[in-house]
Amino acid sequence: MNHQKMESMTTLLLIFSGFTLLSFPTSTDADYLYHICPNTTTFTPNSTFQSNLNRLLSTLSSNANRSTGFYNASVQTPNNDVYGLFLCRGDVVGTDSCETCVATATAEAPQRCPVEKQMVIWYDYCMLRYSNESFFSRADDKPSVYMWNTQNASSITDQNRFNEVLAATVTEVAAQTSNSSHKFATKETNVSGSITLYGFGQCTQDLSSGDCNWCLLAAATQIPRTSAGGRILKPSCNLRFEVYPFYSSAPPPPASNREGPKGKSKTPTSTIVAVVVAISVSVLLFVVGYCCITRRARKKYNYAVADELSGEYDITTVESLQFDFATIQETTSNFSDKLGEGGFGQVYKGTLSNGQEVAVKRLSRNSGQGTEEFKNEMVLVAKLQHRNLVRLLGFCLEGEEKILVYEYVLNKSLDCFLFDPEKQGQLDWSRRYKIISGIARGIMYLHEDSRLRIIHRDLKASNILLDGDMHPKISDFGMARIFGVDQTQANTNRIVGT
Ligand SMILES: *[C@@H]1O[C@H](CO)[C@@H](O)[C@H](O)[C@H]1NC(C)=O
Ligand SMILES: *[C@@H]1O[C@H](CO)[C@@H](O)[C@H](O)[C@H]1NC(C)=O
Ligand SMILES: *[C@@H]1O[C@H](CO)[C@@H](O)[C@H](O)[C@H]1NC(C)=O
Ligand SMILES: *[C@@H]1O[C@H](CO)[C@@H](O)[C@H](O)[C@H]1NC(C)=O
Ligand SMILES: *[C@@H]1O[C@H](CO)[C@@H](O)[C@H](O)[C@H]1NC(C)=O
Ligand SMILES: *[C@@H]1O[C@H](CO)[C@@H](O)[C@H](O)[C@H]1NC(C)=O
Ligand SMILES: *[C@@H]1O[C@H](CO)[C@@H](O)[C@H](O)[C@H]1NC(C)=O
Ligand SMILES: *[C@@H]1O[C@H](CO)[C@@H](O)[C@H](O)[C@H]1NC(C)=O
Repeated sequence: MNHQKMESMTTLLLIFSGFTLLSFPTSTDADYLYHICPNTTTFTPNSTFQSNLNRLLSTLSSNANRSTGFYNASVQTPNNDVYGLFLCRGDVVGTDSCETCVATATAEAPQRCPVEKQMVIWYDYCMLRYSNESFFSRADDKPSVYMWNTQNASSITDQNRFNEVLAATVTEVAAQTSNSSHKFATKETNVSGSITLYGFGQCTQDLSSGDCNWCLLAAATQIPRTSAGGRILKPSCNLRFEVYPFYSSAPPPPASNREGPKGKSKTPTSTIVAVVVAISVSVLLFVVGYCCITRRARKKYNYAVADELSGEYDITTVESLQFDFATIQETTSNFSDKLGEGGFGQVYKGTLSNGQEVAVKRLSRNSGQGTEEFKNEMVLVAKLQHRNLVRLLGFCLEGEEKILVYEYVLNKSLDCFLFDPEKQGQLDWSRRYKIISGIARGIMYLHEDSRLRIIHRDLKASNILLDGDMHPKISDFGMARIFGVDQTQANTNRIVGT
């Protein structure tokens, strides 16, 4: 716990601040994705290091026409060594896309990170990396940038089957990539008649087979459980999957004598909507510090949090969650629309100023926690995000008032259906089955996949909410933490829940 909090704090993100401040309209169709350069590693402008770096970048740029799509180089003078490499996406090697991308990267990198000695920048078609320390032949899996595609999510009807196929596919991709001479592989797998999974893996070509496999498998563990597409970008490897073809269908290059392009692949950026950066405190190369991160002002991209993926990195802050009491009163029209009564207090409907409907739970009992403790707990609970959990949007803490603000879920709770003679009929077996497996997935997430390991302790039909599509969402899951494990529930008779 403390360890985790510490990590969260150390790595805290200063990152969002960078998003809106800077934008680089200069990007070409090379399709900038992300970059990272800690400001703890800076050099003096117009120094020897700068001129070495410039030489390195021009060397890299002039080698972008290589048939391998990969090149590493260094410029070494006493105390001012600089090492760098680029890697083009396997299927664009030898094409204009590769050269253009590397040219763009070598030109933009110094603009985005003018005084940083260490940087990685990812584009759709290539990545560029440099550092004052040698990193050749070394597998670095941190920092990692995670992007996911939410656009195709609705096409996945059987998430379990999809996840099974996905796990098998990325494992296979990792093995094939690490065993291929160009450290690049793709794999297509049938998920169902209408859905094909496209997997893609690539490592920098200086890695050994074992290191490449290790890096890709590390990336594979960061794939979320509910996404129809995503990519994990690491300094030494990257992994991607989608339910549509995003790489050119030309077969992977033969070990030698690769022929030229088979045409550009479809630009896939429109489907990538979210990014999370995971930065570990134990980063070897990238000293954790401020990471200057910018993004191109493009509607197509949204950035969001997926904490279970980002691990130590976290952009949820107390400030972003805290509501004042006046706002809550306004939101709920002074607690006029009561939705129900739960074990911990009354629940009211409300509408935020942006129009979003919310459920507001006014806690009737004292949690026994101090203010800071309560706030910290709120931040942790807010980070639990899963489609089978009711999302905590914020809280209010003022005087005696302790209020939790949740997403609003349309169809109330499961007990309203189960125990209502008329509504019962709406629950046919297939619907019941879906509800049951959704609950199981939510619990699985709480127990195994979230970083908090929450035991619900009061799972019951009235704590299962149903959204407009009758998907179940577990509520009150943080209560055992907030109220402590020994306390009895107000509205149930037994110790810790029903
Ligand atoms: C690289 O730069 C960082 C930050 O300035 C410095 O701490 C480190 O010693 C440098 N490494 C080498 C090999 O010079
Ligand atoms: C670095 O050199 C450029 C051009 O040579 C000059 O315009 C700039 O002022 C110099 N910067 C510093 C900090 O000396
Ligand atoms: C690559 O481009 C450089 C100039 O940018 C040129 O000198 C070199 O001959 C080219 N190499 C190949 C293999 O075309
Ligand atoms: C590229 O990296 C390898 C080690 O992986 C090194 O032996 C080689 O000299 C590097 N190439 C250049 C041009 O620096
Ligand atoms: C996934 O999204 C892309 C881009 O929006 C679209 O072209 C494609 O048809 C979608 N595929 C499926 C299976 O939904
Ligand atoms: C690479 O191929 C060899 C022989 O085909 C196999 O023994 C090895 O396990 C493969 N490596 C990986 C990482 O799959
Ligand atoms: C995937 O399934 C479709 C229809 O079910 C079939 O036509 C196609 O050949 C299959 N592809 C592979 C790679 O198995
Ligand atoms: C790095 O950036 C952060 C946030 O802008 C700033 O507080 C810090 O002073 C910077 N550190 C250095 C060494 O410039």
